[in-house]
Amino acid sequence: MKNFWKKINKPIFALAPMAGYTNSSFRQICKAYGTDVVYSELASATALNFEGKKTIEFLGFEKSERPYIVQLFGNDPKYFKNASRVITEKIKPDGIDINMGCPAKKVFSNGSGAALMNDIEKVREIIKETLKGTNLPVSIKIRAKVGNVTAYKFIKKIKDLPISAIMIHGRSLKQGFAGDINYSQIKKIKSIVSIPVLANGGINNPEDAKKMLEKTGADGIGIARGALTKPWLFSQSKELLKKGEYQEFGIDEIKKAATRHAKMSYKSKGKHGIVEMRKYLLWYFRGFENAKEIRKELVKVESVRDIEKVLKMI
Ligand SMILES: Cc1cc2nc3c(=O)[nH]c(=O)nc-3n(C[C@H](O)[C@H](O)[C@H](O)COP(=O)(O)O)c2cc1C
Repeated sequence: MKNFWKKINKPIFALAPMAGYTNSSFRQICKAYGTDVVYSELASATALNFEGKKTIEFLGFEKSERPYIVQLFGNDPKYFKNASRVITEKIKPDGIDINMGCPAKKVFSNGSGAALMNDIEKVREIIKETLKGTNLPVSIKIRAKVGNVTAYKFIKKIKDLPISAIMIHGRSLKQGFAGDINYSQIKKIKSIVSIPVLANGGINNPEDAKKMLEKTGADGIGIARGALTKPWLFSQSKELLKKGEYQEFGIDEIKKAATRHAKMSYKSKGKHGIVEMRKYLLWYFRGFENAKEIRKELVKVESVRDIEKVLKMI
């Protein structure tokens, strides 16, 4: 199987994984606006090991999303081999990622997610087992620091394993989802590995994307929440890097993007796709003038037509 990471132009732009958000239609809209790679929401290695139908179904994707990476979480190495086999054979994505950065209680408290950075031996087992079940490239997503373990220390102890890429959220576990990015930690890792390093955290406008690349020397970036308010952040950032400036999106373009996304969501899941769309619409129109009034209407929409009607109020 080809390793798409080797073929992709740099800097690489990735839609970082977000549970509850990076579903097929959101990945499609981000792809339409220039992201190079998309990650799924995190999926349980245990559920996949048992070929859980629902989990397999929710990881489905459209061709236009490729390269598409399925992200696994779990804490028991014995499930990862079969989970990665199931992903490879039944879902057929372009890569598999292992979550080593999630702080959510229900993930962290059973030794998965960020807790793995404290357990190098287990991580090594998990990576080896995952590789046994697939010929797809296997990547990892980590944090800048968990407890006393820095990302640099961590990577030094596993870099002999044939992983294909690393995404680093430049914040410590203690910081959670806010606060300064540890650029130097990412830069140090870039200096000791030859695989793509993607820097993630706090990229909310094209200038942030440029700064992240300059400060870390990373091969690419991962954008999570910034893409929820602006899926077009990918193309704008690319424009800034290429031309030194970029086109701002006016209200009409934002409405157009929201409607396009809604149509994708409807196509993907029918009426339920529109119900799911409500939470994205709140992100798109955050901080607008009559936001309160609009919000009240957006949370009730049941069709693309309803959405178009509410957008006329803006
Ligand atoms: C709602 C939400 C869900 C997330 N779910 C995941 C996940 O499933 N897997 C993962 O590795 N990271 C997850 N993250 C972390 C993001 O991928 C990213 O590392 C973090 O939000 C920092 O990037 P940002 O500042 O661009 O948002 C999630 C973040 C948010 C806000």
